[in-house]
Amino acid sequence: MIPYGRQSIDEEDIEAVVKSLKSDWLTQGPALQKFESDLARQCNADFAVACNSGTAALHMAYSVAGIGPGNVVVVPANTFLATANAAIYLGADVRFCDVDPDTGLMTTETLSAALDDRVRAVVPVHFAGQACEMDAIERLVRDRCPRATIIEDACHAIGGTYRDGTPIGSPRYASMVVFSFHPVKHIAAGEGGAVTTSSRQLKEQLEQFRCHGMTKDPEQLRRPDEGPWYYEMHSPGFNYRIPEAACALASSQLAKLQQSVAQRRKIVAKYHDELGGIEHLSLPPRSHLKTSAWHLFCLHIDYPALGRSRTDVMASLKDRGVGTQVHYYPVSLQPYYQDRYRHTEAQFPGAVSHYRRELSIPLFPSMTAAEVEQVVSAVRHVLTSKSNVKRQVA
Ligand SMILES: Cc1ncc(COP(=O)(O)O)c(C=O)c1O
Repeated sequence: MIPYGRQSIDEEDIEAVVKSLKSDWLTQGPALQKFESDLARQCNADFAVACNSGTAALHMAYSVAGIGPGNVVVVPANTFLATANAAIYLGADVRFCDVDPDTGLMTTETLSAALDDRVRAVVPVHFAGQACEMDAIERLVRDRCPRATIIEDACHAIGGTYRDGTPIGSPRYASMVVFSFHPVKHIAAGEGGAVTTSSRQLKEQLEQFRCHGMTKDPEQLRRPDEGPWYYEMHSPGFNYRIPEAACALASSQLAKLQQSVAQRRKIVAKYHDELGGIEHLSLPPRSHLKTSAWHLFCLHIDYPALGRSRTDVMASLKDRGVGTQVHYYPVSLQPYYQDRYRHTEAQFPGAVSHYRRELSIPLFPSMTAAEVEQVVSAVRHVLTSKSNVKRQVA
């Protein structure tokens, strides 16, 4: 079975992890410092603060942005649960904006409808690896909600660029940019996450939140003369520290990021060449070939017109050894958020239309040419075979 996504680990990665395990440090050591400086360099950011998941990174970023009770955080309906949940952890409200039905992205039009005086943070999500139009989003937020902090959720998008060619993660349009290093992402650390920023103050606050809210900074201490062992906590944080072995793996993977994104783009170009022109099937825009990091390759299938359900198409692809996944059931319609805010499907026509048509097919750098061929021929067969259609309709 070819999964829709998976990590690609080579001997260099294994050696890096073994080396870290044999060192004096299992946490908070030189591998962490190296990974943070490698990541900041990759992102053209002054600082990167690594932690143990993308979810933790979102929680850290929202917290140091000052999000709390009474505030509203705007997130797109088409995202993973964590983008919204991190605001709930802080006692804030989530307001979901709709997305473009074809790209699945927040746009200035969908965001505009969600902005008002209560909004303290706006979180564009670079879904599937494509960048949101950050220059226009930033202008809109500055104009309508000057007190709001922009925090990008780039968990899908390291290795891609904004329209102007700046690497994603550069805090050019946002105060902070958040990443995940879960195994299906571009950089696998087992579990891991990070926040990039160009503000030293935010960097220091992020570090404190990552480690229980502890500080040893003499300028912050109420009792600076207490002794060398002494630390203080002025506001509680969490234990979001990332182990050294995970940092060593992440640095080793990061060194191969350009290669692995290039490999993803090669597979995507092949999908575009081989899957164009199939009835009831739309592909993501080819124009994103140079800018998207291509975390996912999202097919859009008009299932009613095809005469088959998505469950049935997925089962037929699985019979041919091809794993697929659906990204995402709109988070705004998850029972928790539906009950909390009385949401209806009609409020999110873009996200619902995107969800109803979406199917992510396998895309990861270590796919062999034969596996790519297997996916292409399975998709072609399942979507075009007349006998299949007749069998299912009957
Ligand atoms: C868009 C998005 N944001 C946040 C996260 C959370 O990352 P993690 O799984 O590392 O906690 C994910 C993970 O799938 C994600 O896809």
